[in-house]
Amino acid sequence: MPAIEEQDPALLPQKITHICCIGAGYVGGPTCTVLAQQCPDIVVTIVDVNPVRIAAWNSEDLTQLPVFEPGLAAIVGECRGRNLFFTTDIDKAIDEAQIVFVSVNTPTKTSGIGSGFAADLRYVEASTRRIASVAQTPKIIVEKSTVPCRTAASMRAILEANSKPGTPFQILSNPEFLSEGTAVQDLLHPDRVLIGSLDTAQGRRAAELLSEVYERWVPKERVLHTGLWSSELTKLAANALLAQRISSINAISAICEATGANVYEVADACGVDRRIGPHFLRASVGFGGSCFQKDILNLVYLSGSLGLPEVAEYWRQVIVMNEFSKARFAKKVVQTLFNTVTAKRLALLGFAFKKDTGDTRESPAITLCKHFRQEGAHIAIYDPKVKREQIFLDLTEPGVTDDRKAVEEAVTVCPSVLDACHDAEAVVIATDWDEFSAIDWHKVFNIMRKPAVVFDGRRVVNPAKLREIGFRVHAVGVGPELQDNVWV
Ligand code: NAD
Ligand code: UDX
Repeated sequence: MPAIEEQDPALLPQKITHICCIGAGYVGGPTCTVLAQQCPDIVVTIVDVNPVRIAAWNSEDLTQLPVFEPGLAAIVGECRGRNLFFTTDIDKAIDEAQIVFVSVNTPTKTSGIGSGFAADLRYVEASTRRIASVAQTPKIIVEKSTVPCRTAASMRAILEANSKPGTPFQILSNPEFLSEGTAVQDLLHPDRVLIGSLDTAQGRRAAELLSEVYERWVPKERVLHTGLWSSELTKLAANALLAQRISSINAISAICEATGANVYEVADACGVDRRIGPHFLRASVGFGGSCFQKDILNLVYLSGSLGLPEVAEYWRQVIVMNEFSKARFAKKVVQTLFNTVTAKRLALLGFAFKKDTGDTRESPAITLCKHFRQEGAHIAIYDPKVKREQIFLDLTEPGVTDDRKAVEEAVTVCPSVLDACHDAEAVVIATDWDEFSAIDWHKVFNIMRKPAVVFDGRRVVNPAKLREIGFRVHAVGVGPELQDNVWV
């Protein structure tokens, strides 16, 4: 089989009628659902090795989809069975498709070389091998997963060694920038769609074909074309820069608490400088989610393996600061409650890593629970979207504890805010759910033990109003004597 650069662009698919997406997770599901809605003439098939996940995507009851995103269920309802399909028949979907998105998970390695830092690419490799073994017609293979720089080269080596004669491939990098909780809007109105390709006739033609799909709903000027390696690295760089801003403002928030400055005033005043900008400067208990930590660790590993230890250490500090933020918040809770929370009931409001998602991956709430359990507290958790079993799974994962019985004794999952707050000594807000901004704090005050304390890790409450009711309040990034001024 000729090297891919030498192939004739005419051997690429001429028309896109079928798209397959391997991986029906938080990215593959929403991304290709929106694609199906915007391209009714293209058959979009989302496949997964996990039959339970596929069955959930096919649920009659649209509230049971495996991924909760505002607006998503309605689009699935509109397109499913028309030009959108969810199936475990991976081979058939690959066979029919001209474009195959690889949208599988790329978690941090937990053993072997690079353990704790490098991306585990086993699922990307398995998907690539499957495409090679099944494909009988030309395919454009699109890296949607977040991968280390030059992963496309490994995919190409696998494809070249395993594909059937007469089945040319092009590999594109098309990283996804959606945020959970706003995925549908992000997909409908992206700041940019990034397509990286080889700078060859076939590479450029493949990029054009993918671009034409997006241009059905994304303005052409927002579709950016770069080289493959730039595109792969951009995804890691973008996440590192975003997380760095949060760690930066969280570092400033510690200084604010110690000096009486107000981090919200500082962030606003810094953010009006157009060179800095106002976004992603919300001080918090710390960032969570499946991407930031994993992708920075990946960048740290990449830098280290390229012989750039100073660069690796620079990015590692973003994670160090995030761990410090979570630990500092937990310590504040213990110190304020007279240096002990042993046998005290703490109401933890929010378990998801941010509002409008049921996703708990790397949620700060997990770290808070770990600290509170070590201090002997009883934790009463309420989250509007996270299921009880998920909470227990997260609290017994490696690195937290393997003692399920002890966790069950120390943790109660409650059906409402009021249930969680009943007899609690303190309320700890870990997620910015809108519901928490509308809590009837008079009712909460009446059912709590006194002094009743609220620790706001997300700038959800109005401290002045709560103090009028009788609460003591701690909000991240605001020194004690200025806490009343936090609500602007
Ligand atoms: P996920 O774990 O929710 O979904 C991945 C899915 O791939 C799983 O359902 C899994 O069963 C399936 N899978 C794994 N190997 C497979 C195989 N060989 N064949 C078929 N299916 C297979 O992960 P996710 O959150 O959707 O993330 C996917 C990728 O997108 C990751 O690389 C991630 O870094 C990146 N990303 C995620 C987000 C996000 O917000 N979650 C945003 C941008 C990019
Ligand atoms: C992130 C990137 O934003 C997205 O572009 C990429 O595709 C995937 O990773 P996501 O993790 O879904 O998206 O959510 P994001 O809104 O970035 O929030 C991540 C974490 O940072 C959350 O825990 C959030 O609460 C926290 N955060 C965000 C802050 O603490 N302060 C902020 O100012 C912004």
